[in-house]
Amino acid sequence: MQTPIPYGKQFISQEDINNVIESLKSEFLTQGPKIAEFENAFAKYIGSKYAIAVSNGTAALHLCTLALNVSEGDKVITTPITFAASANCVKYCGGEVVFVDIDPETYLLDYNKVEKLLESSPIGTYSGLVLVDFAGRAIDLEKFSVLAKRFNLWIIEDACHAPGGYFKDSNGEIQYCGNSKFANLAIFSFHPVKHIACGEGGMITTNDEKLYQKLLLLRTHGITKDTSLLSENHGGWYYEMQTLGFNYRLTDFQAALGISQLKRADQGIIKRREIAKNYCDFFNKKDYIISQSGYVEGHAYHLYIIQTPKRKELYNFLKSKGIFCQVHYIPLHKMPYYKDLNKEYIVISESEKYYNNCLSLPMFPTLTCEEQKYVMTQIDNFFNE
Ligand SMILES: Cc1ncc(COP(=O)(O)O)c(C=O)c1O
Repeated sequence: MQTPIPYGKQFISQEDINNVIESLKSEFLTQGPKIAEFENAFAKYIGSKYAIAVSNGTAALHLCTLALNVSEGDKVITTPITFAASANCVKYCGGEVVFVDIDPETYLLDYNKVEKLLESSPIGTYSGLVLVDFAGRAIDLEKFSVLAKRFNLWIIEDACHAPGGYFKDSNGEIQYCGNSKFANLAIFSFHPVKHIACGEGGMITTNDEKLYQKLLLLRTHGITKDTSLLSENHGGWYYEMQTLGFNYRLTDFQAALGISQLKRADQGIIKRREIAKNYCDFFNKKDYIISQSGYVEGHAYHLYIIQTPKRKELYNFLKSKGIFCQVHYIPLHKMPYYKDLNKEYIVISESEKYYNNCLSLPMFPTLTCEEQKYVMTQIDNFFNE
């Protein structure tokens, strides 16, 4: 019997384990030096000025909407083909989520439909955009940033799927996901299936010093000990709670794992791109699929997706062969919570078509050639039966 092949999984090396053990033996389990070390290394890798480590990607998104002052009545546009947290962060602050359709070619938020919506609404109707580099494909932030300026919108880039991914801007220059050149803030997750695994963990990146300072406060209960920021000072013990914040801190041993994983991040992407190329070459010769992720420059390949009208049958068949695929995602506007709350969603037909056919195939750096061949052979067997 074939050992089970999941759609994604972490890779923990002996070096990772050694680094975590070393951190556990150190003086600090949390609020120690590993946090700044991870933040600095991550900011350097992504190409942003600042990075703030937090307890998970959802906390990162929540802090972003707080820092951008999202409040009751604010309308924020995002894609329905994403994980719930990309939209929920708006709801946490009392805002409204407006789902706009995806582009069937890229599976990303459709620029033209967003532009049309903005142009047909009174100015000031919308506050911001949560733009997702879905599956690891970099969204064209330069294009969206021009639109955002025109309509006075902020941008949060949800880059959970795409550390190391990039797009080329209008000058042909590489713009890495999360470098915050065209977005106010960007966020990442270090959940085990992601490129960098900490168990749980997240990061916010930005080039905006004011937002950075605000995020530092919000991450730790709104409390500061920074003497330059205090309104009074009673002595060495003195701190002030200056705003309502949360405990969204990462631990030092998680940061130690993150630092160790980050050193291998480029290797991981190279492997993911090789796997994507193999899938792409294979499915290019098959007429039983409607569409696939394809081989795209700059894609970080968190996921490799194919579309087939026989998705359910194929999913079950592969499961019986020990291959555990997934579906990313059930459109958010179809979720009971959003269905009831949000009657206002716009045109979503492409998202629904996509959902009816999509399947995420195994994609992780330790997937062996033999395992990938087995996956492709079984898919062939299914369609040729
Ligand atoms: C696109 C996207 N955004 C946000 C998140 C939330 O990250 P976390 O699970 O670390 O809270 C995820 C994680 O699954 C995600 O895939």
